[in-house]
Parts: sequence; C-alpha cells; structure tokens
Amino acid sequence: MTGKPSLLVTRRLTDDVEARAARDYDAVFNPEDRVFGRDELIALCQQADAVLPCHSEIFSADVIAALPERLRIIANHSVGVDHVDLDAARARGIIVTNTPDVLSDATAEIAMLCMLGAARRGAEGDRMIREGRWDFWSPSFMVGRQVTGRRFGVLGMGRVGQVAAERARGFGMEIHYHNRSRLPAELEKGATFHASLESLLEVSDVLSLHCPATPRTTGVINADTLARLPEKAILVNTARGALVDEEALIAALKSGRLFAAGLDVFRDEPGGNPEIAALDNVFLLPHIGSATRETRDAMGFRALDNIDAVFAGQEPGDRVA
Ligand code: DGY
Repeated sequence: MTGKPSLLVTRRLTDDVEARAARDYDAVFNPEDRVFGRDELIALCQQADAVLPCHSEIFSADVIAALPERLRIIANHSVGVDHVDLDAARARGIIVTNTPDVLSDATAEIAMLCMLGAARRGAEGDRMIREGRWDFWSPSFMVGRQVTGRRFGVLGMGRVGQVAAERARGFGMEIHYHNRSRLPAELEKGATFHASLESLLEVSDVLSLHCPATPRTTGVINADTLARLPEKAILVNTARGALVDEEALIAALKSGRLFAAGLDVFRDEPGGNPEIAALDNVFLLPHIGSATRETRDAMGFRALDNIDAVFAGQEPGDRVA
C-alpha cells in the first residue's frame, strides 16, 4: 500500500504521462495495450479510485452500475465522451471529465488532410503509383476539385471547428457554420452563421463535421441531408463515425452526387467500412486526429490534472458529468 489513490490507466500512454501517473498514483498500466472487454474492465475497476480510459473503453450504463463505490472519477483521455453513459455516471455520483482544447490543432490538421486528400484524389494517386499502374499523363488525368475560393461549411463551431475554419481560411475558403448558438464576432471572424442545418448544407462545397456524437446528432448526415449539399460537394469527418449514415454516404459517393469524402472516423472502429474502402473517391485514415506526440502528452496531462483536482478536493476543470 502506497497511501496514494489507485489509478487504472486503460491504454498505453506516452512515457511522460505514464511517468507522472506512476509518480503520483498507485497506478496500474496496460503495457500490452490490449483493449479490455466489458468484464475485464469491470474487474480491473474494482480496485481503482480513478480510471483514465480512452474512447476504446465503453462505459455503458450496465458497466457503470457495476463500478465500485470507491471509484470517484472517469477521467477520459479524449474530448469525445460518447463512449460513456453520462446520465448513468451522474446517477452514481461518478465524476466524468474530458480533454478539450489540447487536441484542436492536431485534429484540424487532419481535417485539412482529409479535405485535400479527398478533393485532390490523394489516395487514388498514391495507390496507382504504389501498385505500378501509373502509365499515363494528360491534362485530363486525375482532375480533382480545387478548394481555393470555395465554401467551407463547419457543422459544430466548437474549439476544433474554429481551428479548422482558421486553417481553411488559409486556403482562401469562405467560412460558413451551423452551431447551437451564434459565436461572438471575435470568434466568428467573419464566418457566416446559419441558424439551420439545412441552410448550411446548401452552401457547403466542403462540409466538415466537428460536433459531438449524441442521440440528437447520430445519423445527422443521411440521404436527406446529403441531398441538400451542392452538386459535387466533399464531406470531411474527423469527429465521430456515428454522425454519418454510411449506407447513404456510399450511395452518394457511388452516384457521383458527392465528389468525395475524407474520413478519419467510422461507425465501426477499429476496422472501418470495407464498402467505403472499396471506393476510389475516398481518402481514409484510422482515427488519428489527435495522434501527435505533443497532443498525446497534452491529453494525458490534462486527464491527470482532472484527477489531481478531484483528489485535492477541487472541482476538475473539464467536468462533463
Ligand atoms: C477524442 O479525443 O475524442 C479523439 O477522437 C480520440 O479519442
């Protein structure tokens, strides 16, 4: 017994984050970086005063019901918290936190990569060369969509959405957004607010998703909403796969109504959707929006800050439940 609170760290984090966790807590790590199944997660939590999970650990209502009385906080190493049943945690008096802000730059970079990769047919060209199939060039070869001067629609103008908009301004794009509420002028920076999603869709040459997955936003991109986008629009999703009805997306991509999609997230992860992967007009990444060394350090430290606050008898900065 160290006298320190015990902390379960469910996935392999950066060396610096694990060193701080080991210094300040009686910490249990997962050096093999396995994904714990439901029962193993519950069993490991029985000895924990705090748990530091990622979005790969599902804290559904039944898992939360089986957590021990001693567990005070679920300090997520993620900004998204759709893997945690927040109502169930509230009902049990378990604090839940996330890691906002620190991953906005990294995720917005990936949104730009997805946008450009989709618009300029990045994956198709890369594949052609790697497979030894590049045997032709002409002015009509591999013609994509130029984003300069086009309209960049942001669904969810929170922290990541705002940075993505800033980066898109760098490409000379005109920014439009839909959000629950209009931003103040200093954050809006000349972007056009759309009070309705429908109105945003109609002007989005590129639509970039930056809202959380909630029961309200699940499937928000579906056959109806895709049909409202301008002809040959591009969809970018670096938020959550659950926002998109993937069957409707596949149909829009196959028909050519949608020019392309750049996706970092999928309904089923890991793995993605083989039917999407079989299409040429997609640029795909395996949920790596926040995967840079500096961001992973910052996320881990932020999660530890939230845990520290709870054991110091303070309100954690990033409480979501
Ligand atoms: C997040 O922070 O939500 C990222 O998707 C990684 O989990």
